[in-house]
Amino acid sequence: MDRKFAYDTMGLDLRENLDIGAALTSVLGRQEAQASGANGAILELNDVSLSFGGISALRNVDLSVRRGEIRSIIGPNGAGKSSLINIVSGVYEPTNGTVRLQGRAYRAIAATRLAQLRVARTFQNLALFKGLTVTENIVSGLAFKRRAAFVTQALGLPWARREERESRERALEVLRFLDIEAYADRLAGSLPYGIQKRIELGRAIVAEPELLLLDEPMAGMTVAEKQAMAAFVRAVNDTFGTTIVLIEHDVAVVMDLSDRIAVLDHGVKIADGTPDQVRNDPAVIDAYIGAVHDEPAEVA
Ligand SMILES: Nc1ncnc2c1ncn2[C@@H]1O[C@H](COP(=O)(O)OP(=O)(O)OP(=O)(O)O)[C@@H](O)[C@H]1O
Ligand SMILES: [Mg+2]
Repeated sequence: MDRKFAYDTMGLDLRENLDIGAALTSVLGRQEAQASGANGAILELNDVSLSFGGISALRNVDLSVRRGEIRSIIGPNGAGKSSLINIVSGVYEPTNGTVRLQGRAYRAIAATRLAQLRVARTFQNLALFKGLTVTENIVSGLAFKRRAAFVTQALGLPWARREERESRERALEVLRFLDIEAYADRLAGSLPYGIQKRIELGRAIVAEPELLLLDEPMAGMTVAEKQAMAAFVRAVNDTFGTTIVLIEHDVAVVMDLSDRIAVLDHGVKIADGTPDQVRNDPAVIDAYIGAVHDEPAEVA
């Protein structure tokens, strides 16, 4: 990516975290890029539609996501953004159309397969285990990677114990990367909302996904928390080369972070291009005027 990480403008110094990230990558070994689509896309939606009874959540949507990019999806409330991520992550099966992940076509994709394809996601509404510690929540992101079943762990077999220890060490590296190691042993549910959102990001990146789907990771945050989260999203992309699909209502943040942006409105893709192309698109400006948002969105 032809993009420099703006440490100083973000008011944060993430250099140390990036060093930790680099160490993580070299220690664990970066995965070789897997076979991708004919056009180099890691994810491709062709003519995807989704209906809930009479409601048309998505209509004939095409979307291509290139390996390594930050690809944002914006649009007013109810535009179909979460539905799109839910289709890619196998929560919904499209009524029509195909989804290609790493070059292979799927209708509904199972969670285990998703993990094998190195896809991870976060949810629009917090979905942490509130009664578990922060470390345990992060470790849960390795569930599909670990060999030991819960029963085996309970029996305390040596290799299961070693796996447990390695998982915890790995979780700690992620906590350091995200600057939340101080909370490692705290119960997730007891922490401020902004920190919980960061823990959710940690759980999603701990298994080193190649494709990360983020559904409003900054929603409901203070300006400072948003800036920090935006910096971490960029750091994940820069440090690990993770492809990111980002849904976010704060258009200023999206314009700053994204390589390309797709705009949905009432289930239809009305624009797609670079931040500059999208910013100046009359259809986008129309869609935003009078639209009700969680937060004011300035497109111009
Ligand atoms: N499980 C469901 N059952 C019925 N309708 C649904 C379901 N999920 C989504 N919808 C409808 O599909 C449309 C798109 O919803 P979706 O959640 O994808 O929008 P969104 O762009 O993520 O909105 P927001 O910005 O508010 O999160 C809406 O009309 C919504 O009510
Ligand atoms: Mg949504």
